[in-house]
Amino acid sequence: MPELYIGIMSGTSLDGIDAVLVDFSPSRPTIINKAHRPFKQELREQLLQLTQSHTVDLKTLGQLDHQLGLSYADIVNELLTASAVAPSEITAIGSHGQTIYHQPDGDYPFSMQIGDANLIAEKTAITTVTDFRRRDMAAGGEGAPLVPAFHAAMFRDDERDCTVLNIGGIANLSILPKNSSTPVSGFDSGPGNILLDGWIQLKRGNNYDSAGKWGATGRIIPDLLEQLLNEPYFKAAAPKSTGRELFNIDWLQSRLSGGERDEDVQATLYELTAISIADAVKQQQAAAKELIVCGGGVFNLHLIERISHHLPDCEISSSEKHALDPQLIEAMAFAWLARETLSDRAGNIPEVTGANRPVILGAIYPA
Ligand SMILES: Nc1ncnc2c1ncn2[C@@H]1O[C@H](COP(=O)(O)OP(=O)(O)OP(=O)(O)O)[C@@H](O)[C@H]1O
Ligand SMILES: [Mg+2]
Repeated sequence: MPELYIGIMSGTSLDGIDAVLVDFSPSRPTIINKAHRPFKQELREQLLQLTQSHTVDLKTLGQLDHQLGLSYADIVNELLTASAVAPSEITAIGSHGQTIYHQPDGDYPFSMQIGDANLIAEKTAITTVTDFRRRDMAAGGEGAPLVPAFHAAMFRDDERDCTVLNIGGIANLSILPKNSSTPVSGFDSGPGNILLDGWIQLKRGNNYDSAGKWGATGRIIPDLLEQLLNEPYFKAAAPKSTGRELFNIDWLQSRLSGGERDEDVQATLYELTAISIADAVKQQQAAAKELIVCGGGVFNLHLIERISHHLPDCEISSSEKHALDPQLIEAMAFAWLARETLSDRAGNIPEVTGANRPVILGAIYPA
């Protein structure tokens, strides 16, 4: 009997929505089908404003929550039609939602995602699990990253230490020791695609730097690199998580003198991104031998080349090598987390998020 779930993810890069239909009945989950829907430019800009400056009135916020909920439901219905699968055959949807504010520290930490799951459940007739982060926060955790548990389920190998790197808007690591009595660890290393996308958008109007070609033409600016690397986040101990609230174009621009060539700034951002990732890997697993990369950043050849330069002893491969589409892993993780929730199993790893105990994550919206 298949055990079908759908995962929906739209991440900090704001590139669009990924949805995946997964069968969890085999010992290794199988992807049945997938869909991607890019955000329309207007929606993207509204979300960018919302997530970066947080200056949107409540009416707009409510409407965006509704609009995203409808978009999530639409992509699920498209996926079902394309796969010739009925809603009744799907156990549940796991929807991450769109993060609009993630602030894991201070007196009142919070993480806010939108994309109304009432609408998803209503329009698809499928039970929907969402709001995964806040229960972990209620238990004293950062609410992030949540994917290491899924990375461990998919990639942990009892013969080899390995690290999984997801390069989304933010980059996050999962450290999977071969010794199963050593806990899994993981955290956000800092920027993934977020600054690279932001700078090319500002200077050239492209959504991203295809294969890293533009950045590869620039020269690293040592003073700027040093200044960017001085950001205290990079030195802070885990558990830690971050977002667009910290790493954004204003953060970069306040550190520019003004005379830099655009492509040199881009080259410097590549170096910052690669060094912060490589340092985080080395700090956790000094002798890391294998790095499995997923997320859209895997297609940025220049970024992968720079990471590889800073991790010369590490074999770097795309998750594709393990027969898993790198762009679907995050969405799969939320399908898997929904299954953990419905099975009354905890979804967080306290060593990763800093929570004081394992907790069952998410809110359930019945079909
Ligand atoms: N061919 C490519 N060349 C360079 N960069 C690419 C390419 N394809 C995708 N990308 C990068 O991948 C990004 C999308 O990645 P992804 O969907 O994993 O990020 P995300 O939505 O932020 O996810 P999450 O936050 O869940 O990790 C794009 O914004 C772009 O920066
Ligand atoms: Mg994405």
